[in-house]
Amino acid sequence: MSQEATLSFDGNEYKIPVITGTENEKALDIGKLRASSGGLITIDPGFKNTGSTKSAITFLDGEKGILRYRGYPIEQLAEKSSFLEVAYLLIEGELPSKSELDLFKQNITHHTLIHEDMKRFYEAYPSKAHPMGVLASMVNVLSTFYPESQNPNRTEEDVDLTIIRLLAKLPTIAAWAYKNSIGHPVMYPKNKLGYCENFLHMMFGMPTEDFEADPVVVAALEKLLILHADHEQNCSASAVRLVGSSQANLYSSIAAGVAALWGPLHGGANQAVIEMLDKIKADGGNVAKWVEKAKDKNDSFRLMGFGHRVYKNFDPRARIIKKACDDILSKLGVNDPVLDIAKQLEEVALKDEYFVARKLYPNVDFYSGIIYRALGIPTDMFTVMFALGRLPGWIAQWKEMTENKEPIGRPRQVYVGANERNY
Ligand code: ACO
Repeated sequence: MSQEATLSFDGNEYKIPVITGTENEKALDIGKLRASSGGLITIDPGFKNTGSTKSAITFLDGEKGILRYRGYPIEQLAEKSSFLEVAYLLIEGELPSKSELDLFKQNITHHTLIHEDMKRFYEAYPSKAHPMGVLASMVNVLSTFYPESQNPNRTEEDVDLTIIRLLAKLPTIAAWAYKNSIGHPVMYPKNKLGYCENFLHMMFGMPTEDFEADPVVVAALEKLLILHADHEQNCSASAVRLVGSSQANLYSSIAAGVAALWGPLHGGANQAVIEMLDKIKADGGNVAKWVEKAKDKNDSFRLMGFGHRVYKNFDPRARIIKKACDDILSKLGVNDPVLDIAKQLEEVALKDEYFVARKLYPNVDFYSGIIYRALGIPTDMFTVMFALGRLPGWIAQWKEMTENKEPIGRPRQVYVGANERNY
């Protein structure tokens, strides 16, 4: 039975339809409120309490710490699936059959090269260029090499090809950004390698010697990418949907997602966590002092990797990743003093009244940085790793938005500036 809410304002009553999701989440649909009330809008900076869409991709319950892609619990996918299988699931809506997955992998494998002309762009970046800046611009550049993607009336086949190209080329673009930053020759992709192995080969391989990825590292990377693959309407996914809603092409929409992810309050937090831990270590390792700084409202310092807009109990990804982190460090025999600081910080913060009262727990980025470091990934590539993982989610969000023919995203505002005045 459809429900309605009633809003009373200024002596009038307005009926507001209630939308109920498949997990019984309820939302007031205020889409027609402005028209029916003669101008009333709602305001919610940061969209803390506002749904922007109905979506069938990812379900998240922040209070209970639940995360599911297309209905499948993240714990099961992290344990049993591969990254490309999860990518297929997110984008197509169902898990692939073996032949569907084989074809998907084969298509991706055969599009991993990037146009040779794109190599020239790398030469133009300053050697200190942050790889996220390079990634965002190179993804946007793809739209100029594939101009047919710019046609808003593109066919389904065109879209499928763009999706394959993005999934195939992002690891190449990312690894080349790294090689360029250290002044090494780029490594071309190898078709005989799996998705993660190939990325590691392009990152750490050298023309002068053979490279074989450690299976422990490959498995860890696979898991990390799965855990990052989607997270419903977060900052970067919303950026992708918003840009895509103007019918901008998929490459440019994804480039917007990369840019949004870069910030330290979002995906950039994984780099910020390691930088913070290094700073605490260099400062003598006095964890309590830094926890006090984080609590001090006159100090801009925040504990990076703590807190989440949605998770107010625990981040299920952080739980999986924490265990993976312990396993990987022991398997690789890594003894990192920064890890001890991380553990102390976690312990102190989890007991501290300030963090308890505000429900601030370690999030996925708190541990992912530590794993990336153990895997030999340089710090300024951490957020790039996040982008590689998040790509299928961004694509799925964009695809859903376009298939549902959602209107252009265009919020309203409450104007608080000067009234009319003469020049
Ligand atoms: N350290 C210290 N205090 C914090 C922290 C933190 N990491 N996070 C939140 N708080 C405090 C705030 O000061 C605020 O306190 P108040 O109520 O006394 O004013 C309260 O907790 C609520 O914080 P908000 O900033 O209002 O929460 P919001 O939902 O807007 O922000 C965010 C969430 C951005 C993740 C925030 O917790 C943060 O900055 N964390 C550190 C950065 C980080 O780890 N980001 C990664 C998020 S996960 C991801 O994107 C993959």
